[in-house]
Amino acid sequence: MTQLDTRIRNSALRQRVTDADAAAALIQDGMVVGMSGFTRSGEAKAVPMALAARARAHPMKITLMTGASLGHDLDRTLAEAHALSRRIPFMSDPGLRAAINRGEVMYVDQHLSETVEMLRTRQMPGVDVAVIEAVAITENGGIVPTTSVGNSASFAILAEKVIVEINLNQPVTLEGLHDIYIPTWRPNRQPIPVMHPETRAGLPYIPVPPEKIAAIVVTEKTDSYATIQGPDDETRAIAGHLTEFLLNEVRQGRLDTTLAPLQAGIGTIANAVLHGFIDTPFHDLTMYSEVLQDSTFDLMDAGKLVFASGSAITLSEQRFRQILPRLEDYKPKLLLRPQEISNHPEVVRRLGLICINTALEFDLYGNVNSTHVAGTQMMNGIGGSGDFARNAYLSIFVSKSTAKGGAISSVVPMVSHVDHTEHDVDILVTEHGLADLRGLAPRERARVILAHCPHPDWRPALEDYHARALARGGHTPHLLEEALSWHVRLRDTGRMR
Ligand code: COA
Repeated sequence: MTQLDTRIRNSALRQRVTDADAAAALIQDGMVVGMSGFTRSGEAKAVPMALAARARAHPMKITLMTGASLGHDLDRTLAEAHALSRRIPFMSDPGLRAAINRGEVMYVDQHLSETVEMLRTRQMPGVDVAVIEAVAITENGGIVPTTSVGNSASFAILAEKVIVEINLNQPVTLEGLHDIYIPTWRPNRQPIPVMHPETRAGLPYIPVPPEKIAAIVVTEKTDSYATIQGPDDETRAIAGHLTEFLLNEVRQGRLDTTLAPLQAGIGTIANAVLHGFIDTPFHDLTMYSEVLQDSTFDLMDAGKLVFASGSAITLSEQRFRQILPRLEDYKPKLLLRPQEISNHPEVVRRLGLICINTALEFDLYGNVNSTHVAGTQMMNGIGGSGDFARNAYLSIFVSKSTAKGGAISSVVPMVSHVDHTEHDVDILVTEHGLADLRGLAPRERARVILAHCPHPDWRPALEDYHARALARGGHTPHLLEEALSWHVRLRDTGRMR
């Protein structure tokens, strides 16, 4: 048996092996394409490149749906080839971001659990072609995903045609890591049978009739590495405040020292905060999250974390090189699910998660902006933060108190865009302190936020604004003429004052 035979176990399907150009030719101008890939892991790598090359020679545009952001600059390459008319539901590439902010690409910023639900119920145009990276295809045509599941399962199940990229560089030990459960159809939908982070509810592969697999492309490129920075003094301070808060929850008898299943958002800050749990008395922790970053494995190696369920594994180069060859050791403690299930409101509420996500900015009353700089320029998208925040047991948002060397305050009178309303935010943390907003009315929230969160350079201006707003009255006092003046100054001068 050749290596390819062990990867493509259905002999009839071996006849469909072709090159990336021929596979990409199945994608026509105007089609909706659903590709694998979630925060730079497990994306199809060859077909999108071939598609971009074709679009440069013969202009064409597609709607591109994925799980989340793509690695290998694919989002930038496709945007620069003018191959994208619409992009759904998440991205984080600066080149694509610029095209979105110029209005060239229509970006639909969706809660990550919702995309396939909308596809399944035909509330959005259906997927013509799915392109899925796999470690193997089983005898019955089942597709075994690689380092992410994302939306791949539903894309493949719902698409007219499926292109599979067999990546020989993704270790076969990934097989068995995935749990593919698809919710049953309404009106007779059953509860999702996930009772614990470690519950398996589905199949270890994506079930697809073999005849739907129209082409198979063989690739060898590894995933891109995560670009996050390590912990710094500010993120360590944020982790310290959070630890102190959680220890008090234990003292008050609301949690025990195993806490509750943890979810941590993408990015440098959330990763660093989670890493900070190494130096705490918490133990036997579990995660029910979306992206498993370096910190997940740091906590496992430190003996703090006993199980992690996610939808993707995205690692720095150093951790990638250490962990992938040792995957067999981690496998009993890991599981990857479709993002519809990892982020599902029903499961998040049932398990009672402690959710830690990142704010770009938040306001005096606890509204959070995670997506738009100065209210207009898209950063990355909401990702799964809304799926988790609204349904969390504890919804925590973290942020450094300033950005761009102090030119921007992350605590503002009124957020310039709202992703998470005050109703979905329990706790706010910056390096200066933690505001516990639970059970507080807006005027009380403002007092607690002002006391604990702003940078000392910005606190007097916020206090002044708040005092003058209080004089005007109201349940949520504001000076409407002034509420966004800090953002106007940022737009005009590059600084908030
Ligand atoms: N105004 C303008 N820019 C700001 C800002 C503000 N108030 N706060 C932060 N930034 C900038 C930073 O300067 C940095 O810019 P750079 O890339 O040019 O250096 C960038 O935003 C990222 O901020 P950083 O401090 O490095 O934090 P991060 O890597 O943790 O990312 C988010 C923060 C909000 C962008 C990121 O967490 C995100 O995309 N969140 C939305 C999706 C999400 O939460 N998914 C999680 C569900 S699992």
